[in-house]
Amino acid sequence: MDRARNPYTPNAGAPPRFLAGRAQETEDFRVLLQRLANGYTEQSVIITGLRGVGKTVLLGQYERIAEDENWVPVVAEVSKNTPFGPQIANLSRRALFQVSPKARWGERAAQAAAVIKSFSLSVQADGAMTAGLDVEPAWGTADTGSLNDDLADVFQAIGEAAAEKKRGVVFLFDEIQFLAKTELEALIGAVHRTVQRQLPVTFAGAGLPGLPGLAGNAKSYAERLFKFSSIGQLPRAAAVQAIVEPAKVEGVTFSPEAIEFILAYTEGYPYFIQEFGRAAWNTADGPVITLVDAEDALSQVESELDGSFFQARVQRTTPDELTYMRAMAELGSAEQKAADVAAVLHKSSEQLGPIRSRLIAKGLLYTPRFGYAKFTVPQFDRFMRRHMTLDIESTG
Ligand SMILES: Nc1ncnc2c1ncn2[C@@H]1O[C@H](COP(=O)(O)OP(=O)(O)O)[C@@H](O)[C@H]1O
Ligand SMILES: [Mg+2]
Repeated sequence: MDRARNPYTPNAGAPPRFLAGRAQETEDFRVLLQRLANGYTEQSVIITGLRGVGKTVLLGQYERIAEDENWVPVVAEVSKNTPFGPQIANLSRRALFQVSPKARWGERAAQAAAVIKSFSLSVQADGAMTAGLDVEPAWGTADTGSLNDDLADVFQAIGEAAAEKKRGVVFLFDEIQFLAKTELEALIGAVHRTVQRQLPVTFAGAGLPGLPGLAGNAKSYAERLFKFSSIGQLPRAAAVQAIVEPAKVEGVTFSPEAIEFILAYTEGYPYFIQEFGRAAWNTADGPVITLVDAEDALSQVESELDGSFFQARVQRTTPDELTYMRAMAELGSAEQKAADVAAVLHKSSEQLGPIRSRLIAKGLLYTPRFGYAKFTVPQFDRFMRRHMTLDIESTG
């Protein structure tokens, strides 16, 4: 069918034509903002899930809800290569300017500007982060150099400025598994401060399961402040909607057998559904997409997934790391004990420990519980087995 009218969206973060199975999450978020605006406290949210389940899309949805509710959404992606202090200073400054243009700053906003300036200078002394903040820094506030104390001061100041303007600020952070433990703790502490003061500031984060920064104390503390919502495979009814609804708008339907075939292959993972929908559409003559169309589309689905979704994940891995993941794939898709993976390679888990740690730091593996690791990408084991042969000799 006409590729120009293909309604599927197999791209990271691309809003789908039909957002399937997220009614509860979106409703909860709207209620969160409304409760805070009414002066009640409510837990912030952290969404966790594997790659391709729709975390970024859900954050995008939160952004629209925030705008709808007259909140200021501050969107950012955490990365290993961007230092967090300057990043959050910059975002705080942006938040303040969006709460209120400078010409209409009240007393609280002017105070917030001073606090943000002081914080910005403490994280980046050259002042690169202070554009537009031509106020005297609030010396002694948010400039201890301890992110923990300083960020709380900044969030409080922003909250007071927002309250003065009867608005709210929500920080929406993606890929939060890349926050260091101290950074995540600082963020948690800052959110805690705004909760204590009943200020209209909150946070929604998205990241991989088993956030490495959330260990020990940080974890028990976070569990009181945040609602952890894990998203994953779409349940059957929602998965069917994700398949059929985008095409319906274009007057195209699927045969029941085609739907079953796509459900079985994709296991309800949103990214795979979008990829399959696109390939089936391009393959079919229509207006009904049949089982034969779906079967014919399969090789295209697989080569597209391999070339984009999976390949993107292995781009920055070393040969050692690849061999480790290939050995792990030999054992299947489930979580695996470090010792069992090592045994496949005739090594000890101590020898392979550093490789395994690097894979966790890179966000390719996560630890669902102590001593175990699992792929962060669904069906990654299948990809590894298709993509490379097991070479037992190659790990140093
Ligand atoms: N609720 C949903 N219903 C249908 N498709 C979705 C849904 N959520 C995400 N998608 C699709 O799945 C893919 C992955 O979404 P993304 O948000 O990038 O996942 P993640 O951030 O978890 O890796 C995108 O192609 C997107 O269009
Ligand atoms: Mg994402």
